[in-house]
Amino acid sequence: MAAPWIAPSILSADFARLGEEVDAVIGAGADLVHFDVMDNHYVPNLTIGPLVCEALHRRGIKAAIDAHLMVRPVDRIVPDFARAGATYITFHPEATEHIDRTIELIREHGCRPGLAFNPATPLDYLDYTLEKLDLVLIMSVNPGFGGQRFIPSALGKLEHVRRRIQASGRDVRLEIDGGVKVDNIQAIARAGADTFVAGSAIFGSPDYAATIRAMREQIARG
Ligand code: DX5
Ligand code: ZN
Repeated sequence: MAAPWIAPSILSADFARLGEEVDAVIGAGADLVHFDVMDNHYVPNLTIGPLVCEALHRRGIKAAIDAHLMVRPVDRIVPDFARAGATYITFHPEATEHIDRTIELIREHGCRPGLAFNPATPLDYLDYTLEKLDLVLIMSVNPGFGGQRFIPSALGKLEHVRRRIQASGRDVRLEIDGGVKVDNIQAIARAGADTFVAGSAIFGSPDYAATIRAMREQIARG
């Protein structure tokens, strides 16, 4: 399996000091910067968009940006995130009219496409998409807010998707998002995740490096 990646969600960062917060979390050992985009339409909250992504990219941050789009429609905003320096662009199948077209659009713009599954979204959407994806995101909370409790049925979904990725023989990251903490990350890794989003668990802790290190230790216990 691929090396584990820790992806702090900047949703829980101090937005008044966002640049410093991102530098700090990368300095603390983060592999990816998880960038939650909410539109008060697809999800009941409003966050940050391409201008903020571009500002972080221009700052010269030393980690790839993992843009998680919780917006409807999706296609209009994809080129903006590509220009703004996103590496991964992940969207929700319910939020677009033509899933395959959106995947192609992300790829055409030089980014890596990801598909996100809400807690009650069936995995059938992988049937004709997995061969075109670079990332599958399993939501372990309902999207819209940080600091929610992990929904345990996500573990079974991870196991299922891990088997499908293995059968595909392709290099696809399996990401978990929502309620990930030091004390449940080992079970999450065991279920097959290799990419771990954590917002409140990291930004709410006094020592980002210590928290990320503790997460890595739990994952390594296997
Ligand atoms: C929820 C977001 C998550 C969220 C995770 O819609 O997609 O990335 O910020 O936050 P925690 O880790 O606090 O559950
Ligand atoms: Zn997210």
